[in-house]
Amino acid sequence: MVSEIQQKREQFVLRCFACKTEFRIDDYGKFYRCLKCGNLLEIKRIADLSSSKSPHAIASYGVWNYFDLIPLWNKSNIVSLSEGGTPLIECRNLARSFGLKSLHVKFEGLNPTGSFKDRGMTVGVSKAKELGYKIAMCASTGNTSASLSAYTARAQIRCIVLVPKGKIAMGKMAQAIAYGAEIYQVEGNFDDSLRVASEICERDNKILLLNSLNPFRIEGQKTVSFEIVEQLGGSMPDFVVLPVGNGGNITAAWKGFSEIFEDGLGGLLGNQLGKTPPMMIGVQAEGAAPIARAFKEGRKDSIEPILNPQTEASAINIGSPISWMKALAAIYDSGGLADSVSDEEIFSAQKLLASREGLFVEPASATPIAYLARIASARSDEFDQMKDSVIACICTGSGLKDPNALLKGVKPDQIQTISADTKSLEKVLA
Ligand code: F0G
Repeated sequence: MVSEIQQKREQFVLRCFACKTEFRIDDYGKFYRCLKCGNLLEIKRIADLSSSKSPHAIASYGVWNYFDLIPLWNKSNIVSLSEGGTPLIECRNLARSFGLKSLHVKFEGLNPTGSFKDRGMTVGVSKAKELGYKIAMCASTGNTSASLSAYTARAQIRCIVLVPKGKIAMGKMAQAIAYGAEIYQVEGNFDDSLRVASEICERDNKILLLNSLNPFRIEGQKTVSFEIVEQLGGSMPDFVVLPVGNGGNITAAWKGFSEIFEDGLGGLLGNQLGKTPPMMIGVQAEGAAPIARAFKEGRKDSIEPILNPQTEASAINIGSPISWMKALAAIYDSGGLADSVSDEEIFSAQKLLASREGLFVEPASATPIAYLARIASARSDEFDQMKDSVIACICTGSGLKDPNALLKGVKPDQIQTISADTKSLEKVLA
C-alpha cells in the first residue's frame, strides 16, 4: 500500500503556472504562490497514462471516478458527498430557436450543494485532511462558502468563510449557516474579502485557503470536462461556453480538455487523437468584466481590475479575478474568446432556459445562454462559426440558490390572485 501511494505521489508535480519552477507537492499551503516569481501554482501530472485502460476500474462515481487523475494519495482521505456525475442535457427547443445544430447544458446545479464548486471542494478538503489541516478558510460570493462549509462539516474541520456584506444570495448564506461555518461579513466587496483571507492564510500556516487559486480545487473541477467527453460518446465538443468570475472555472475546464488531448488520456476517455480540444468562450457580466475587456484589448499579460464591480449576478460580481492569467491562457490557447452580457440579457436568458427547457439556473449560470441568444439574434460571425457545431454550456449553479434575483424581474401579470371558487378560476382561464 505504501509503495502504491509513493508511486502516485511521483506522478504529479506542483509548479508555477508562469515560470514553471517546481515545488514539493506536499508543501502546498506553506505557500500559495511561486516562491520565485509570485505567480499562481498549478499541478501537472507527469505520468504517461496512455496505456491505462479505463478510469472506471479505479473508483466509483462522479469526480472520484477519476481518482488516478487526481493528486490525492490515499483513498481513505476522500471526503465526498457523491459530487459530479451531473447530466449533460441536450436542449433541442433552445437550439431550434437560436438556429443551432447541437446545444447541451451540463447542469452543475445538481451537485450536492447546488453548484460546480463541489467538484473542487471534495478534492480540496480531502487534500486538507491528507495534509493534516484542522482549519480551512475561503472568501466567497456565496457558492464556494456553501460548498466549503458542507465538506468541512463532513470532515469535521473548522470552517471560516468571508463574504462581502449584503452581496451574497440568501440561499447560499442559509447553507453556510446550516452547515455550521463561522461566517464573517466583510465591509467591502469580494475582492476585499479574498485579499483579507489570503493575507491571513499566508501568515498562518495552520489555516488552508480553499479559494480556486488552490490548485487542488482545479484538479477536482477539471473532471467536468472528462464527463462531458464521456457523455458525448467519447468525443470533444467544438465549443464550451461558461461563466467567468474569479477565473477558476474556465481554468479547470480547459485543463480537463487539454489533459484529454495532450496527456494520453485518449485511451481512457475515448480516442481523441487528432481531434482538437474545444474553443473556450468565457462570459462575464458587463459590470464585472475585466477578463472580457482584456481579451477585447488583445492583452495577454495583464488585466485592469474593476474597482467597483456591479452586477445582479452576484456569484460573478468580481473586479479583480485572482486566476486571470490562467483564464486568459485558456481563452487564447483554445482559440476561444471572452465577452460580456448585460444583467437584462442574463435575466431573460435565465427565464428562457427555464421556460423552454425546464432548467432553472442561477443568474451567473445563465451567462452562456445570454451570450448565445445575443449572437444568434445578431447572426454574427461567431454565430456562423458555431451554428453547425457541438456546443456545451456549463451552467454552474441551481436557480434555487437565489430566488430573489429572479422574482425581481417577474412581470405582475404572471401571478394573479383569485377567490377560492371554481368560477373565479374559470373566469381567468377563459
Ligand atoms: N458560476 C457560479 C454559480 C459561481 O458561483 C461562480 C463563482 C462562477 C460561475 C465563476 O467561477 O470564479 O471560477 O470563474 N463563484 C465563486 C464563489 C467566486 O465564491 O462562489 P470562477
